[in-house]
Amino acid sequence: MAFYDIICKELASYIVVTDAEEEVCELYSVYYSSGSKARVDRVDPSQSEVEIEIHGGRRSFTLTILQNPHINGELGQTGGVLWNSSVVLSEYFARRSISDWDLSTLNIVELGSGCGLVGIALHRLGARRVVVTDQRRMMKVLTKNVERGKSKGIIFATEYDWDKGSEDQSVLREPVDLVVVSDCVYHEEVVPMLVGAMKEVCQSRADGKVVGIIGQELRSDLVHQAFVDKLLESFVVYRIPVDPSVDSFYTLYAVWLI
Ligand SMILES: C[S@@+](CC[C@H](N)C(=O)[O-])C[C@H]1O[C@@H](n2cnc3c(N)ncnc32)[C@H](O)[C@@H]1O
Repeated sequence: MAFYDIICKELASYIVVTDAEEEVCELYSVYYSSGSKARVDRVDPSQSEVEIEIHGGRRSFTLTILQNPHINGELGQTGGVLWNSSVVLSEYFARRSISDWDLSTLNIVELGSGCGLVGIALHRLGARRVVVTDQRRMMKVLTKNVERGKSKGIIFATEYDWDKGSEDQSVLREPVDLVVVSDCVYHEEVVPMLVGAMKEVCQSRADGKVVGIIGQELRSDLVHQAFVDKLLESFVVYRIPVDPSVDSFYTLYAVWLI
């Protein structure tokens, strides 16, 4: 069964998003009422190597991830370190039982992978093929993490810059089932490029059955609104409910092309 069909079966428990301003009002009313105690904080941008436990009940596991905190000369500023929403997103996948979600047939592309946690977690969870991608300067740390995280199935890292489109055809060589994006919106300027890249990857299947799952930390209401607004131009958008007592600083979306 395509991942799209699996997600469609769950839509009754998801929240349809049709208006970016309303979405931001709703999210931020929960965000402000939850207080900072609710924040997931499982990353440490000061370390060059971190152990991350992915809590998924019977599918729990630990990954050791290399970081390069100084990749841009500024501590924690880039994909050289892990971001919390990558842990939230990895656990969203790990919490599902194999009978709910069999990933063993899926071809998955991660955009803006940074150190690669989400893609490597999906590989560990049994995905058939995972392609983790980022800009050229991230390739060294990403490739090392992929080599260290390899188990059964295919996983590889390749350069894919949202701005340049699909120069690297290895991303789109096979029709994609699932695109994952963790915390790639931190400035309004990146929004059109990222959404453009998501569209390109989603167009890799003629039947349109490509699902994007996005994990995003809530930082700026205006930037988040610009992101949702841009998504709504081309995608059907559903918010996946997270436990507000734990994860109210993060939001998850399931999207597919209109
Ligand atoms: C905040 S980091 C998130 C990294 C990782 N997904 C995580 O959650 O830990 C944003 C990522 O987007 C990547 N990125 C930014 N602009 C990009 C572009 N034009 N093309 C590809 N990746 C880009 C950065 O290199 C960085 O790895």
